[in-house]
Amino acid sequence: MKISPARIAAFDVLLKIETKGAFSSILLPEYEARLGQKDSALCHELTLGVLRNQIHLDAIIDHYSKGRKLDEEIRIAIRLGLFQLIFLSRIPPHSAVNESVNLALRARRKYARGLVNAILRQFVREPFRPDADDELERISLETSHPRWLVEKWAADFGIQETRHLTSTNNVQPRIAFRLTNKGADVLGSEHIQRSDISKNGLVTERMTSDLITAAARGDIYFQDEGSQLVGDTVELDDGAKFLDLCAAPGSKFSQIALANHGKNCLLVAGDLRAVRLSSLRKICISQGVESRNVVQFDAVKALPFAAGSLDSVLVDAPCSGTGTIRHNPEIRYRLTPSDLPELALKQRSILANASKLVKSGGRLIYSTCSLEKEENEHVVRWFLSESEDFRLDATPLPERFVASDKCVRLVPHKHGTDGFFIACLVRN
Ligand SMILES: C[S@@+](CC[C@H](N)C(=O)[O-])C[C@H]1O[C@@H](n2cnc3c(N)ncnc32)[C@H](O)[C@@H]1O
Repeated sequence: MKISPARIAAFDVLLKIETKGAFSSILLPEYEARLGQKDSALCHELTLGVLRNQIHLDAIIDHYSKGRKLDEEIRIAIRLGLFQLIFLSRIPPHSAVNESVNLALRARRKYARGLVNAILRQFVREPFRPDADDELERISLETSHPRWLVEKWAADFGIQETRHLTSTNNVQPRIAFRLTNKGADVLGSEHIQRSDISKNGLVTERMTSDLITAAARGDIYFQDEGSQLVGDTVELDDGAKFLDLCAAPGSKFSQIALANHGKNCLLVAGDLRAVRLSSLRKICISQGVESRNVVQFDAVKALPFAAGSLDSVLVDAPCSGTGTIRHNPEIRYRLTPSDLPELALKQRSILANASKLVKSGGRLIYSTCSLEKEENEHVVRWFLSESEDFRLDATPLPERFVASDKCVRLVPHKHGTDGFFIACLVRN
């Protein structure tokens, strides 16, 4: 039974995403590191290609299988085959079909050999093109975003913007990173440019083995420019006391620690989850950043800090992540409409709790990587209505990012970054 290592890896990653709630951004680098360069590139293309076109591929599968319920392994093998037949013209159709049949057999789904073969061969003979009844359905099918999300975005941002956003979500983002304390000299490479978004960001269109090695050594740290812009909002005075309340895995905390190095500040990182805090410690160590003050707590409960004792608190709140679909394509299939009000309640209570720690004149920065108003402006509006001693100040970033309501909203289709919301609340 012949199957290329790239297809086996893509199949295994897709199955873990589907059945174990795994994330492609975490699994792919692990699997790709075990493959040769060519297989690693194909595994990447297949996995993300299937995830970015899943609704479209499933509509084709449901047409041929007449809506029959299929085992996950079978569906994934067919999705992989169809993706190659539709999008990868360099792959001969017989390879796409045979390898998918073999993937189903490898998953011990012998009975499905005929089904996988039949669906893919039928598609090769008479390709079925799914059709939509209305414009929102068309966007949903063509860009593989669930209908409810397309409807919501169309209501919130308009149809044109939704079309633009959903298609941008399926484009491979450029690679953004920043130098760490170890200060590698990667600027010499001509394909690397300075970011025009974040203060110390660097960007490139292509991943190279030099960059992967530099990241493994801790000389550079991969971080989206939008995420770096959140870190840029925290500029501390000498001796300031700062708490990053939802800090793990530490992208922004390590960035803030590096940017404010040598100011004799007290920097504390906290998070609910111990495993994520151990990732934070590793990330800090690899970048040469101090990580002595790391605390585990539940930020909706009483916090282990004196009221009014901190100059600056960052609440990078747990959220739906709808701004990061370019990097995490599977998020769109996991979210449900009822997640948004639940998240908003949690965000409100974390923000209100965090506010108690801020001293007079101190700053409370609220950020999410969500595009949803329920998690962003509605949370801030609610907070201000409950907290007379806080006001909303203009987010401390270059003016071009700050909207007339003083908040920052980054969106992938306009800024080329992940989507982020940032608000700066100040205690009177
Ligand atoms: C958006 S992520 C933070 C990303 C992080 N700031 C960074 O830049 O790497 C949100 C974090 O909130 C944490 N979290 C969720 N619920 C929490 C709670 N009740 N208390 C504290 N942290 C919580 C999650 O574990 C997660 O690490």
